[in-house]
Amino acid sequence: MSSSPRIAVLASGRGSNLAALLAARERGELPVDFVLVASDRANAGALRLAEAANIPTLALDPRSYPDRRGFDMDLFARLAASGAEWLVLAGFMRILDGTALAPWVGRMINIHPSLLPKYRGLHTHRRALEANDPEHGASVHFVTAELDGGPVIAQARLPIEAGDDEQQLAQRLLPLEHRLLPAALSLLVSNQLQWRNGAPHFNGQPLPRPLTLGADGVLSLK
Ligand code: GAR
Repeated sequence: MSSSPRIAVLASGRGSNLAALLAARERGELPVDFVLVASDRANAGALRLAEAANIPTLALDPRSYPDRRGFDMDLFARLAASGAEWLVLAGFMRILDGTALAPWVGRMINIHPSLLPKYRGLHTHRRALEANDPEHGASVHFVTAELDGGPVIAQARLPIEAGDDEQQLAQRLLPLEHRLLPAALSLLVSNQLQWRNGAPHFNGQPLPRPLTLGADGVLSLK
C-alpha cells in the first residue's frame, strides 16, 4: 500500500466533482490515492470516470437490501475493506444511516450546493432564487448523522444576478464547487484541518467560521 492518504469517493451522478478531484491530483495539487469510487447507481457517470482512471469501482443497488441500514452497513464495510482512510461524498444523493456512518465521523466530507446552514436537502438553487438571496454558494462539511447538518469547513460564494434562473445559477456555481472540494480535501489530508473533540480545527485552533474560497483558489479565514 502506498503512503499517500487513501480516499474513497461516493457519487450517484455524472461525477464532475470526482473529475475535479482527479484533475487536482494530476496537477500535483492533491497528493492522494483514490482507492475506490462507489455508487448506488450502476449507470453513474462517476463510475465510468473512475474506470477510465483505473480506479476500482463498486456499484451497490439499494433495492437488493431489506432497508437503508442494511445497505449502508454493507456499503461502509466495503469502504473500510478498500483501505480508505477518508471518504468524500461528491454528489452522493442518499441519506445515510447514523449508526453506519458513526465510525467515519471526522473522516468523511460532503459537498452541498448551498451556503449551509441554508437550504439543506434538494433544489437549493431554486430555493435561493425564491428567497431573493443576494448570493448563493457551495459548502463542504463534515458528515454527521444530521442531513447536510455537520460542521461546515469551507464555502465558495457567488453573487446572484438579476434574471438568473435555476440552471444558470447551477452552471455558474459548479466551477466553484470544482475548486472548493479539492482545496478542502487537501487541507484535510495534510492535517491542517482536523476533527478534534467533535469540532473542526484549523491549524490547531477551533475553526471559528467556515474557510472561504478566494479568487486565487485558496481557502482562508476571511
Ligand atoms: C453537485 O452540485 C453537488 O454539490 C450536489 O450534487 C451535484 C453532483 O454533481 N450534491 C448534493 O446536492 C448533495 N446534497 P456531480 O455529479 O457533477 O459532481
